[in-house]
Amino acid sequence: MRTDLPTETEPVRVIEGESLGALLELPDGVFDLILNDPPYSSGGFTRADRQGDVSAKYQQGGTKRKYPTFKGDSRDQRAYRYWSALWLIQCLRVSKPGAICGVFTDWRQLPVTVDALQAGGWVYRGIVVWHKPGARPAQGRFANACEFLVWGTNGGRALAGSPFPGHFSHAVKQPDKHHLTGKPTALMQDLVRVVPPGGLVLDCFAGSGTTGVAAALEGRRAVLIEESAEYAAIARQRVAGVLV
Ligand SMILES: C[S@@+](CC[C@H](N)C(=O)[O-])C[C@H]1O[C@@H](n2cnc3c(N)ncnc32)[C@H](O)[C@@H]1O
Repeated sequence: MRTDLPTETEPVRVIEGESLGALLELPDGVFDLILNDPPYSSGGFTRADRQGDVSAKYQQGGTKRKYPTFKGDSRDQRAYRYWSALWLIQCLRVSKPGAICGVFTDWRQLPVTVDALQAGGWVYRGIVVWHKPGARPAQGRFANACEFLVWGTNGGRALAGSPFPGHFSHAVKQPDKHHLTGKPTALMQDLVRVVPPGGLVLDCFAGSGTTGVAAALEGRRAVLIEESAEYAAIARQRVAGVLV
């Protein structure tokens, strides 16, 4: 059974489920933009760190707020690249010719994410930098103050429309953080604007639904897939809060 796509009256749909399975229910060639923020399977410095609970990995220091945990964050690099290629192949199928796909990653997983994008059949176009002001400095090393959006296109792409910047600077602010690894809404608003109003966006790892909130705020439509029931509920609630 095919999933119904968003409409003007219901511009954001949240699907609770595992992304590979949910992708199979989506029709060919319909998405203008795919923005995926998968669990990076990163964090920490050792294998044991990486396989630890995500709250311990991504929430250090004196943070008081508690966020629901999530799964899928403990693959080793080979498995991560292989798994990513699987969903990127499906993302290519559901995207329009010329569509853009961006995948978030950090410095550790950047090389394998570039490999996976190309293994998925996308034309690799480059890396957009997300600078996070306020990243914790550390003695004797460069601060890891940036994450990256590896991006590509479904085949060739006509060079129409505005030029878009190659980097964005947005701090993670507590009132805007609804997930252990949530992205700033302003960052996602900047990114969804690469497609025209009404354009259809897909996020296969929606978490707290920031992509959907950004799409709704910017007059774009979106399909969000999230396997955690708790986060899918948060995503629905946040999107509904914007669409009232
Ligand atoms: C990095 S977080 C996304 C955070 C999101 N960008 C936000 O701002 O809230 C990744 C999410 O992917 C979900 N996830 C992990 N594996 C999944 C899978 N196979 N299918 C669907 N969702 C998955 C996790 O539950 C987690 O919420």
